[in-house]
Amino acid sequence: MNVTHAVSEQDTAHFLVDAAAWAPSVHNTQPWWFGTRGSTVTLHADPERRLNVADPDGREMLISCGAALCTLRLAARRLGHSPQVRMASDPDRPGLIADVTLGPARPAGEEENRMYDQIRRRRTHRGGFRPEGLPAGLLQALRTCALDENAALRVVADPRARIALGALTEVAEQLLRQNPDYCAEMARWAPRPGSRRRDGVHEDAYPHDPGRTDPPFAQRDFARGHGWGLPADERHGAAGVVALLTTRTDERSAWLEAGQALQHVLLRATQDGVSAAFHTQALEIPELRELIRARFCDGGHPQTIMRLGVAEREGRSVRRPPEELIRPEP
Ligand SMILES: Cc1cc2nc3c(=O)[nH]c(=O)nc-3n(C[C@H](O)[C@H](O)[C@H](O)COP(=O)(O)O)c2cc1C
Repeated sequence: MNVTHAVSEQDTAHFLVDAAAWAPSVHNTQPWWFGTRGSTVTLHADPERRLNVADPDGREMLISCGAALCTLRLAARRLGHSPQVRMASDPDRPGLIADVTLGPARPAGEEENRMYDQIRRRRTHRGGFRPEGLPAGLLQALRTCALDENAALRVVADPRARIALGALTEVAEQLLRQNPDYCAEMARWAPRPGSRRRDGVHEDAYPHDPGRTDPPFAQRDFARGHGWGLPADERHGAAGVVALLTTRTDERSAWLEAGQALQHVLLRATQDGVSAAFHTQALEIPELRELIRARFCDGGHPQTIMRLGVAEREGRSVRRPPEELIRPEP
């Protein structure tokens, strides 16, 4: 065996996984692992990390995995190759998602390099935004990013619809908090301050008091009533641009496309200093999700609800290292 070649293939797989690990995932569950054979990386969903109460169908788990797949593709471009993605579906291995192989050499363009540079900079925001709007032309660019992945980014411009989505988020948050199983699941993914865990939403990822936006959008209670979180920063309370990410269908492949679209949109937004705050509680309650689909999605299926804007400061986030994520592919 050519040792130099073997080492470089291992390094390549490590490079790809190291980037993919920084994809966003619901509650930072990081519901994935990566099989490697040579420089081919196989993405697997990890059902042990699925939210069985909030996400019994694994929709949010697969959106998260789709975001990791988009990141793998972008990392392959950074290495100067076209990624060859083979989507997989095997009833005997339901977690199997896709093989990503380095295809023909093709140098990354400037836009791709800029996008790659955002992978570790991007952060989920939890709170209000600065009052200024988004940079000119950005929304159109974000719509194009979503379309490129076979999804749609629908901006909710009608003030009544924004208020309604905020109100539905509040209802969903209150309903979820009434469910002890949901609260227990949340506790699993919201570690206590000082925890050394490399997953979950830690106390330095959310503000102690997120303040009130106009219209209000309820935040998840990661502190679970303990008052944890970063010192309050209530200087800015703009809700920002409210947007829905939708897909034409609502099955496994559509969820994976939604995840790829999500990461594509988020990385392009980060380039312009714009962050996203997520409010997906209502989409975890089937009746509310159906209402949102019927009223606000033009026939599409809602996959995430977001607010986009310029944040005064960002929280922190953690990830498991590639060594914990890579297993030899059988
Ligand atoms: C499908 C999905 C749903 C999410 N829903 C929420 C949400 O309702 N509230 C929230 O604060 N963050 C939400 N997030 C953001 C994750 O909590 C975040 O990606 C994770 O904690 C990692 O942090 P980072 O994005 O800053 O790297 C969601 C992310 C995904 C992919």
